[in-house]
Amino acid sequence: MKHLLKNILLASYLVVSICKIVSADDGYGLWMSCKKLDDTTELKEYQPIFSSIVIEGQSETLGIVREEIKKGLDGLLGTNLPVNNTLTTGNALVIGTLKQSQLIQKLDLSSKLASLGREGFLIKSTKIGDNPSVVIAANDDIGLLYGTFHLLRIMQTGQSFKDIDISSKPKIQYRLLDHWDKLDGTISDQRGYAGKSLWKWDELPVTVDPRYKDYARANASIGINGVVPNSVNADPTLLKPEYLKKVAKLADVFRPYGIRVFLSVNFSSPISAKFSHDGNRKGGIGNLNTSDPCDPEVRQWWKDKAKEIYQLIPDFGGFLVKASSEGMPGPQQEYNRTHADGANMLAEALAPYGGIVMWRSFVYNADVDPDRSKRAYLEFVPFDGKFSPNIFIQTKNGPIDFQPREPLNSLFGAMPKTPLMLELQIMQEYLGHSKHLVYLAPMWKEYLESDTHAKGQGSTLASVIDGSTHNYKMTGIAGVTNTGDDRNWCGHLFGQANWYAFGRLAWDHSLAAEQIADEWIKETLTRDANAVSTIKSMMMGSREACVNYMTPLGLHHIMQEGFHYGPQPSLDKSGRVDWTSVYYHRADANGLGFDRSSTGSNATSQYFSPVREMFDDVNKCPEKYLLWFHHVPWDRKLQSGRTLWDELCYRYYTGVDYVKEMELKWAAVEKDIDPEIYLHVKEKLATQEKDAAIWRDTCVSYFQKFSNRPVPAYK
Ligand code: GCU
Repeated sequence: MKHLLKNILLASYLVVSICKIVSADDGYGLWMSCKKLDDTTELKEYQPIFSSIVIEGQSETLGIVREEIKKGLDGLLGTNLPVNNTLTTGNALVIGTLKQSQLIQKLDLSSKLASLGREGFLIKSTKIGDNPSVVIAANDDIGLLYGTFHLLRIMQTGQSFKDIDISSKPKIQYRLLDHWDKLDGTISDQRGYAGKSLWKWDELPVTVDPRYKDYARANASIGINGVVPNSVNADPTLLKPEYLKKVAKLADVFRPYGIRVFLSVNFSSPISAKFSHDGNRKGGIGNLNTSDPCDPEVRQWWKDKAKEIYQLIPDFGGFLVKASSEGMPGPQQEYNRTHADGANMLAEALAPYGGIVMWRSFVYNADVDPDRSKRAYLEFVPFDGKFSPNIFIQTKNGPIDFQPREPLNSLFGAMPKTPLMLELQIMQEYLGHSKHLVYLAPMWKEYLESDTHAKGQGSTLASVIDGSTHNYKMTGIAGVTNTGDDRNWCGHLFGQANWYAFGRLAWDHSLAAEQIADEWIKETLTRDANAVSTIKSMMMGSREACVNYMTPLGLHHIMQEGFHYGPQPSLDKSGRVDWTSVYYHRADANGLGFDRSSTGSNATSQYFSPVREMFDDVNKCPEKYLLWFHHVPWDRKLQSGRTLWDELCYRYYTGVDYVKEMELKWAAVEKDIDPEIYLHVKEKLATQEKDAAIWRDTCVSYFQKFSNRPVPAYK
């Protein structure tokens, strides 16, 4: 009897454990798991429309379309749908291009398709004969793949197909993910927060990790069409023939997903290694003793290299370059040449093949101006109009470096003759790494909607980078990615939302952050309406909370030296005058903040009127940028009625309180979330609360030494 009982207990324990294993979600499937719809209204609407799939035509990309639509629909509807080449049954989902599909040709869509370009698509409810159907039509197979993923998104988020008529095309042409991955598998400068690099360079080109394909499909599902696999602190080794073969293999995997490969290149690449004087950063792979962009041999070296690359990768995208910045070699100090000389040389090598150069403006040479925030503008604006047409100047959103909050980079709007490519950071280098839940879309929208006034009101960042303000011939956006080889890709499950949001905004910057969150939650976590709205409310305020517990009211760069995780408002060890937290916050007995107004560094003069005057006047400057632009007395009254000191403390406290609220909200949705994911996020939130409190306590007590005022009680 005792034995029997023990066996029964053991058996039930095993059943429960197995069920747990089966149901557990490790996050690998991202937003693409297409779990079965349990809502009967949706199922009732979808099932009759999607009783078969017809795809006419053949190509590698169409093969992927077949695979994705079948997997997606079968998953969502719990069916096993036939995929046919011709219409056999009544109702069908018809997918095709005008070129290859006779059914699409009959539908009179050509005028609509004419404006959609190569990547755009239509999704439309229609009738084929007497039968209600849905079609996905495009000019090119890649448009069909984007349309397919969008159709699955519509279903995963429970939208109706009644009278559906969607035309969609990307607002921005180059939509890239930039990896900061090194060839040894680590991520540059300790910026890998989700494990090691996805790229297994030692195994390539012989072994191709199946994960590359999963990565490509995830990117294609959100419209990413280019990847830079290696860090901007580029190792020239990657340009060696044996490495280019490895890169070519990656390009082969990505190509049918509409993704082109680009490479970060080191400006010293043509130099012989024996002239190298700074490890990888300056050691080249060529046989020259210079990389002077005006030297004919150097120019030829790059032309030969471009030819070699295009022989292996015919659709190679081009080069990303970090030059004359943070120890990386470039045309300036070494050769007394300009950014334009350097970029034009590379552009010349790539032009015959249609390749582009993305030359970064992340430079801050201390000789240029004592205020770091002004330097990129001062170095680049004089060269507007001097760059070849296949060059982007790739520019970070803010003038310093991916801080939790910065004003818009003053370069945007100031280079009407040079296409500027926006560089955002998806990895949360300064926003709590993969330990903090910080949804970045509201921050990106804040930048995209910032009005530069370059050509009067409405010259928003979005309109600058999508080319509408200055009629740029090329448009681009890049996101420094947060992916790694962790099973869930991003370290923090909610980091996936940032990858997703970047792609969605790169495609259409007019989407609302809230809508993107809504989609991602339904696709990834739960479709329960209450849970969706609770999780959305956690996400939407999370970036503001992070600003509050790290750097409220315009404070910036007071993070731990090098690692950029915890607080370090005090002096660091580097001894570099412009690299210390004290340099950025300028706390003293009178007040706090960096005077960048006309009475200080005059960085405000780099903005267009009336933004310039608004930032310049302490009474008009938005409080979110107050300490960025002004040195403010501790007792100055702010909009809340509180003094600067009281408001500063208040912000630090409310930031931490928000994290506590997120923990309560997360606990409230436990029943709607996969248990493994629930636990994972719960643990992350606990760490976030602990570390946010460290930020608050460190900063409040540090600044108190200057303010010499008591910390007010808020509760
Ligand atoms: C920051 C970051 C570096 C990175 C650099 C860049 O300074 O900390 O790791 O290399 O930005 O954008 O090049």
